Amino acid sequence: MVEIKSPREIEHMRRAGQIVAGVLRELAAALRPGVTTADLDRLAERLIREAGAEPAFKGYQGYPATICTSINDEVVHGIPSPGRVVRDGDIVSIDVGARYQGYYGDSAATFAVGDVPAEVRRLLEVTRESLYAAIAEARPGRRLGDIGHAVQRLVEAAGFSVVRDYAGHGIGRAMHEDPQVPNYGTPGTGLRLRPGMVLAIEPMVNAGGYEVRVDPDGWTVRTMDGSLSAHFEHTVLVTEGEPEILTAGAF
Ligand code: MF3
Ligand code: CO
Repeated sequence: MVEIKSPREIEHMRRAGQIVAGVLRELAAALRPGVTTADLDRLAERLIREAGAEPAFKGYQGYPATICTSINDEVVHGIPSPGRVVRDGDIVSIDVGARYQGYYGDSAATFAVGDVPAEVRRLLEVTRESLYAAIAEARPGRRLGDIGHAVQRLVEAAGFSVVRDYAGHGIGRAMHEDPQVPNYGTPGTGLRLRPGMVLAIEPMVNAGGYEVRVDPDGWTVRTMDGSLSAHFEHTVLVTEGEPEILTAGAF
């Protein structure tokens, strides 16, 4: 069952989204060689709590931290650690979730630390563009297949690949609600979108093949072939008109 949010719920979700966006911006500003992913996690938790919200990921199915930090060939769900030092030339995906008045916001972005080769910058740009192409499809009458197709078309035309094993999701009073929002699909197929639906759209894009595996820690997802991976995510409200990005300003 896909929920339609009431105006009151949407007000809370706007606030949750704006807290997440502000935290992700602050984390991007703190990202530099020498910082540890545990430093970023601590900063994120402090900022979320100061904003009157709670970390959404901590304790979720036993997840031990506030944010996910996924570096280079790590795709998503990397666990922050005091032993993990950010280096010049890394790409770092940071995923932030917060709960405010019982409602969730969720956003992620991949940042380059220092100078990275043009091909790596292109991976980040294409992934971010594929998210915005998908958001442009988040309108009444369009279907989930249109969203997935928008991501897949752009990514594959650029010579990269779309991760299949993880998807975006509905979001609201739970972090993961129906429907699943795959990053591939066939236009004109799947659930028809309606005003009041809120979707976390989150393309995960590999420079090499789309296959991924999970580390022995049970969380860290990385590319099977060791290629780099990027991840961008916004929480998006379907309206009668233009899609509203509830986490706008995050990146
Ligand atoms: N943004 C991710 C998601 O949509 C974050 C989940 S991390 C977890 O699933 F630890 F909370 F699972
Ligand atoms: Co998400």
